[in-house]
Amino acid sequence: MDDLRDKYISLIANAGDEAALEDLRVQAVGKKGEISLAMRELGKMSAEERQAAGPRLNALKDEINSALAAKKEALGDAALDERLRGEWLDVTLPARGRRQGTIHPISQVTEEVTAIFADMGFAVAEGPQIESDWYNFDALNIPGHHPARAEMDTFYTHRGEGDERPPHVLRTHTSPVQIRAMQDQGAPIRVIAPGRVYRADYDMTHTPMFHQIEGLAIDRDISMANLKWVLEEFVKAFFEVDDVELRFRASHFPFTEPSAEVDIRCSWEGGTLKVGEGDDWLEILGSGMVHPKVLEAGNIDPNEWQGFAFGMGIDRIAMLKYGIPDLRAFFDSDLRWLRHYGFAALDVPTLRGGLSR
Ligand code: DAH
Repeated sequence: MDDLRDKYISLIANAGDEAALEDLRVQAVGKKGEISLAMRELGKMSAEERQAAGPRLNALKDEINSALAAKKEALGDAALDERLRGEWLDVTLPARGRRQGTIHPISQVTEEVTAIFADMGFAVAEGPQIESDWYNFDALNIPGHHPARAEMDTFYTHRGEGDERPPHVLRTHTSPVQIRAMQDQGAPIRVIAPGRVYRADYDMTHTPMFHQIEGLAIDRDISMANLKWVLEEFVKAFFEVDDVELRFRASHFPFTEPSAEVDIRCSWEGGTLKVGEGDDWLEILGSGMVHPKVLEAGNIDPNEWQGFAFGMGIDRIAMLKYGIPDLRAFFDSDLRWLRHYGFAALDVPTLRGGLSR
């Protein structure tokens, strides 16, 4: 019995893991274990022998069982220690940045402009970026031979061999949306149309794709005075200044008569732009009273209806408002630039909550 005891106590002490320990348990005190078998021998003994051996065997069984339990607990603690060492985490390390995306300044400014005009009763209209040359030119009173077609550095699509129809173009301005909106909705109408436009041009101040926002208001008695008021309200709200001075310069566009380009008073003192003060003027848009031929192209009777239109460069006014010096950076997809100039995703511009941060 002493041999059995010594053997199992030392085997248990040396067991490497819980599986080895379980094997030992079965070997010693399992149904067919050595100690259980020894207990069965008790039946064959004489009464005296049994009286001496029985309690000792029971004590041995208890001793082995508690050695097994103690070892099992020790092995469990060791396994936990091992796991804690492996999964150790330094909670004092700085957290990793969340790398949230940002809203591009062009999108933000488009939202701002839309919010301002929505407040004045303008709905948003849309048109395709690949446009027929009729919508992009003819309907806007720019006939085939007109120099404006050449001036616009138009991107043309290809027609198939032998297809004599005029090619589609990448729209060179948002003005064709005027025609589509008039055809769709008739008069009276008040819409703005923000979107991408394309011209084959590339330098510091030109990219082959850029953004415009078109405005159109047609009713029975709309005049240049309405145009002036709407634009002044817009500029005050957009640049967040109380007073601005706009300068209407006579100009020419085939689709408006009379036509005006609009400049805004500003100062570049100290290298930063201030809107509403100073002695400089900055052109921000083209505008005018919609030409009767354009109304006709939109199926609106020019003897009954009249109105104004304007077209503004979104990229231009975004650069002005947020002090962004190089137009091309807008479209470089440089993450550092986007993080610097981008807007938080929940920073939705509203007239009540403030247009910009
Ligand atoms: N479409 C013109 C351009 O891209 C801008 C423009 C001028 C739009 C006068 C208008 C307008 O609606 O009335 O240069």
